[in-house]
Amino acid sequence: MRTSSVLLLAVAALALVAGATSADIAASSTAGKTYKGYTFATDTAPYLNISRDICLIKKVLNTKQPDYTFAKGIYMDGYYGKLASKDGGLIAMRRMATDVKTNEPLWTQYQKHFNNPVWLDDLLVRAFGKVPPYDSDKARVQLIVKTLESSLQVSYLFHELDQAINEVQAKKANASLDVDPVYRVDKAWAIFVGADTDCGL
Ligand SMILES: *[C@@H]1O[C@H](CO)[C@@H](O)[C@H](O)[C@H]1NC(C)=O
Ligand SMILES: *[C@@H]1O[C@H](CO)[C@@H](O)[C@H](O)[C@H]1NC(C)=O
Repeated sequence: MRTSSVLLLAVAALALVAGATSADIAASSTAGKTYKGYTFATDTAPYLNISRDICLIKKVLNTKQPDYTFAKGIYMDGYYGKLASKDGGLIAMRRMATDVKTNEPLWTQYQKHFNNPVWLDDLLVRAFGKVPPYDSDKARVQLIVKTLESSLQVSYLFHELDQAINEVQAKKANASLDVDPVYRVDKAWAIFVGADTDCGL
């Protein structure tokens, strides 16, 4: 076989391997693609990167000298998940934690339980800022990681589903409303499962 053919074959094999990795799913539109058993109808690619941001935070915090500044920056501004969303805003976890949500039974329940409209953000800011009782590395790292991984990802999943229900009802009342409940469900899935097999669901 000529060298060029061998090279071509090698490139083709690499392309196959690359095609199978989950990294690609977040690199372009998810519309029409099946990933982890779910077929997206709309493009929610940027949201697949939220779990990457959480994994990066875990990586920089689970060390002897946790890098809280870098971790906080990822939370505030996003790292992989930084691209603009469909509605034009930048996607960062802080925005997810703090944007105003209306008519959402579950989110309201969290707010009531913690007696704080920005309960998620408040916990995180305290842990990042070393505010007692979150003043040991152990407490800070645990709180940050668990609040992002469990509370933010899960409560945001329900936020999107509640929004989807609201939008279905709104559309019933006015079919020409520019809302897309399917996009909401896709987004919920993207945030919850994440882009990587070794990170996220
Ligand atoms: C998600 O992150 C990967 C890098 O890990 C990047 O290649 C991709 O463009 C990002 N996707 C979006 C939609 O931002
Ligand atoms: C229905 O929604 C469209 C698009 O937002 C709007 O222009 C129209 O006024 C709404 N109709 C009613 C009856 O509210």
